[in-house]
Amino acid sequence: MSLLIVDRLSKNYSKSIRALDNISFCSTEGECIGIVGESGSGKSTLARVLLGLEPYKEGNITFDGKPIAPKNRTLLREYRKNVQMIFQDTTSTLNPKLPIWKSLLEPLSNFKEISPSYLGKEGSSEREIAEVLLEMVGLDKHMVDRYPGELSGGQKQRVSIARAISIEPSLLVCDEPTASLDVTVQVQILHLLKELQKKNNMTILFISHDIRAVTFLCEKVIVLKNGSIVDQFGLEELYHRERHPYTKALIKAAEID
Ligand SMILES: Nc1ncnc2c1ncn2[C@@H]1O[C@H](COP(=O)(O)OP(=O)(O)OP(=O)(O)O)[C@@H](O)[C@H]1O
Ligand SMILES: [Mg+2]
Repeated sequence: MSLLIVDRLSKNYSKSIRALDNISFCSTEGECIGIVGESGSGKSTLARVLLGLEPYKEGNITFDGKPIAPKNRTLLREYRKNVQMIFQDTTSTLNPKLPIWKSLLEPLSNFKEISPSYLGKEGSSEREIAEVLLEMVGLDKHMVDRYPGELSGGQKQRVSIARAISIEPSLLVCDEPTASLDVTVQVQILHLLKELQKKNNMTILFISHDIRAVTFLCEKVIVLKNGSIVDQFGLEELYHRERHPYTKALIKAAEID
């Protein structure tokens, strides 16, 4: 069964700005879908709409059989227990004034009813939970007392990932999570996401302008251009002749063919 169904979704910011135009796709549990497109193609808008952070008027979004409508607060709260997002810019996730352990625990304190499988039966202290989360993303547990300003870009992104997976979401939306990192750190973060996805059977929507990152991580690729899906295919069809000319141009520019 499909976990997420996006059906003919459109979004206008104003009469002249149609950020999303008739978007349809679906994803099953544990699948990784890449959304690739140039700047301004509507990738972040799609992410925000999917998270219920931005209203939409046309089309439908269904998650686990239930509609996602930003106005229905009860349904939205239930949905947020299952969906997390990682942004390019960690400053929108990590409050610079809070020590890492406090930032890490925010999602769990919003949803006290969640008891994650990575914690033992006996109660753990908040710091212990934060330490476990840091270790899950390959960071030293002693970092719990540091502040975001004392971490590197890659370390901050790992903390954001730990924070996002703390509630064991079934859907993780990543909006250009590696765009501000240098190439070697980008690769490490991609490997980490892949490993966590397999371990937790998460569905990942991975948004990027970099088709190489998308093809490394994802088995399905959606190509956005000016708010529309121009191409949608399984990874094994990447080099097929019927790829859209825009997809071919992206592949050529990335020199992966
Ligand atoms: N809050 C807003 N109000 C008005 N227009 C907006 C708003 N946010 C985005 N847009 C417009 O919607 C279109 C899609 O923007 P979006 O941020 O979704 O693109 P993107 O693919 O994420 O680009 P980038 O790769 O640069 O992050 C653009 O034309 C943008 O100018
Ligand atoms: Mg964007």
